[in-house]
Amino acid sequence: MKKEVVLSGIRPTGFLHLGNYFGAMRNYVRMQDEYDCYFFVANWHSLTTHPDTKELQNSVHRVIAENVACGLDPDKVALYVQSDVPEIAELYLYLNMLAYKGELEKTTTFKEKVRLQPENVNAGLLTYPVLMASDILIHRAVKVPVGKDQEQHLEMARNFAERFNYRYGNVFPAPQAFNFGSELVKIMSLDGNGKMSKSENQMSTLYLADEDDAIRKKIMKAKTDSGPTEPNSVKPDYIENIFTLMRITSSADTYNKFEEDFNKCSIRYGDMKKQLAEDMVSFIKPIREKAADIQQDKNLLHKIIQQGADKARASAAATLQEVRKAVGMNY
Ligand code: TYM
Repeated sequence: MKKEVVLSGIRPTGFLHLGNYFGAMRNYVRMQDEYDCYFFVANWHSLTTHPDTKELQNSVHRVIAENVACGLDPDKVALYVQSDVPEIAELYLYLNMLAYKGELEKTTTFKEKVRLQPENVNAGLLTYPVLMASDILIHRAVKVPVGKDQEQHLEMARNFAERFNYRYGNVFPAPQAFNFGSELVKIMSLDGNGKMSKSENQMSTLYLADEDDAIRKKIMKAKTDSGPTEPNSVKPDYIENIFTLMRITSSADTYNKFEEDFNKCSIRYGDMKKQLAEDMVSFIKPIREKAADIQQDKNLLHKIIQQGADKARASAAATLQEVRKAVGMNY
């Protein structure tokens, strides 16, 4: 039986962090045996916010290395760089004719970027969701493992797919955002202000490349309070975030102990953070070390990238042939 197609991407705009890992990469690794997987580094997307490309090659290599260090097997999946697959750009052109200025201007990420970089509101920023839809639809993917912040983009990708099918005939399935478990994940910043992100507030973000002492320092500084006063209280979101990190990195016994302490109002956040810091060091250290080794091995990186491009282009070319036929661009 044909396996379902899975696709996801990461922008090479900085160091990868725990939000990227738990929102996306952890799912990639779990999906690689069961699905036909395409994972890529979204370097075209990064140009919308990072026009200076001096650091880009390094960042692209680091994203590839960190994905492999987290357990992704380049022999099982197509792990590639977006700009190696020019078919995506052609699909982007067709889909752009089906996307409207009004809906693009209303996108949350666009409005946020306009606020953050008012001096560079470029057309690529506006049509970001169209390029993202092209990334997904070029492989006719149905499952897209992403964090909560990408939900609206996925809804737009479904709209563009439906519009294309309605106008030109049925080429694309409807892609869905995916996470194991029922909810998409959002890892918050350790200071409790918004989501963990590659470029904002580095002291409150845990990077997969962080040294042991940096991890300890950041966790010990994470926002807490004086603790609950009523048994079985609802946790404030910054406390919930610490529990989420513990659930993901510590043993079930450890997690349950602190959960019980919280519910009995006897929790000591200092002890909890100390334990979490040590478990986090054990979790991040092997990833950091493996990624550093891979990143230095340029031959290996080039081999992985070439192999990924070959697989991705074969699938993309097959879709584009269907697209051209449907649009009537086959003379
Ligand atoms: P990017 O590079 O910002 O993030 C990569 C992945 O990490 C997830 N993520 C988070 N999940 C939980 N908590 C957080 N704090 C957190 N921060 C980031 C993101 O949801 C994402 O899954 N537009 C995408 C890249 C992209 C893409 C695609 C994704 C381009 N084309 C096609 C899927 C399909 C982005 O900027 O992700």
